[in-house]
Amino acid sequence: MSKIKAAVFASGTGSNFEAMMESVYLACDIALLVCDKPGAIVLEKAEKYGVPTFVFDAKQFPSKADYEKVILEKLEKMKISWIFLAGYMRIAGPTLLRGYEGRIVNIHPSLLPAFPGMDAIGQAFQAGVEATGVTVHYIDEGIDTGPIIAQETVAILKEDTEESLKKRIQKVEHELYPKVINQLLEQK
Ligand code: GAR
Repeated sequence: MSKIKAAVFASGTGSNFEAMMESVYLACDIALLVCDKPGAIVLEKAEKYGVPTFVFDAKQFPSKADYEKVILEKLEKMKISWIFLAGYMRIAGPTLLRGYEGRIVNIHPSLLPAFPGMDAIGQAFQAGVEATGVTVHYIDEGIDTGPIIAQETVAILKEDTEESLKKRIQKVEHELYPKVINQLLEQK
C-alpha cells in the first residue's frame, strides 16, 4: 500500500526536514518541499534526499491569495494530503487554510502561547524564564496560534548560552515532530 503523501514547507536550514527524512518509520512520504526563499539551505537538503521542490518568491505575486492558489494547485495535482510547516516563516492565508483544513501542522520552538513569532528561543533566553520548550500545533490565521497537539518542556540552565539552548531545543524538535506526525496519521 502506498504511503500518505505530505509536503513540508520550510524557508531555513531544514534541520527538521532532515529529521523527517532520516526518520525510518515516518508514516508518510515527504513528496514535496515548498520553499519561499530561493537559495535557502533546506533546498540543498531536498536535493540530497531527492525530494522535489516548489520554490516561489512572494514578491512576484500581487497577493498572498495569488501565490497560495498556485501552491494549492501544485499540492492537489500531486495528491498531497498533509502539510507540515518546519520553519516556514509566513502566515497562511484563507486559501491554503480552507484547502487543507485540519491538515496543516506547525512546529514552534517555545511553549506556546509564550514567545510566538520570530526568534522564540532568543525571546525566552532574554526573558530569563526557567524553562521553554517545543510546541506542535494545528495552524490558523494567527502567528503561531491554533490548537496545540503536543508540547515538550526544555529547562534553561544557568550555564546556558542562547546557542546551547538552541541545540537542546532542536534535538527535542527533531524527535518530537516525526513522532507527532506518526500519531496524527495513525488516527486518520
Ligand atoms: C525551527 O526551530 C522551528 O521550530 C522554527 O524555525 C526553525 C526552523 O529550523 N519555526 C518557527 O519559529 C515558526 N514560528 P530548521 O529550518 O532547521 O528546521
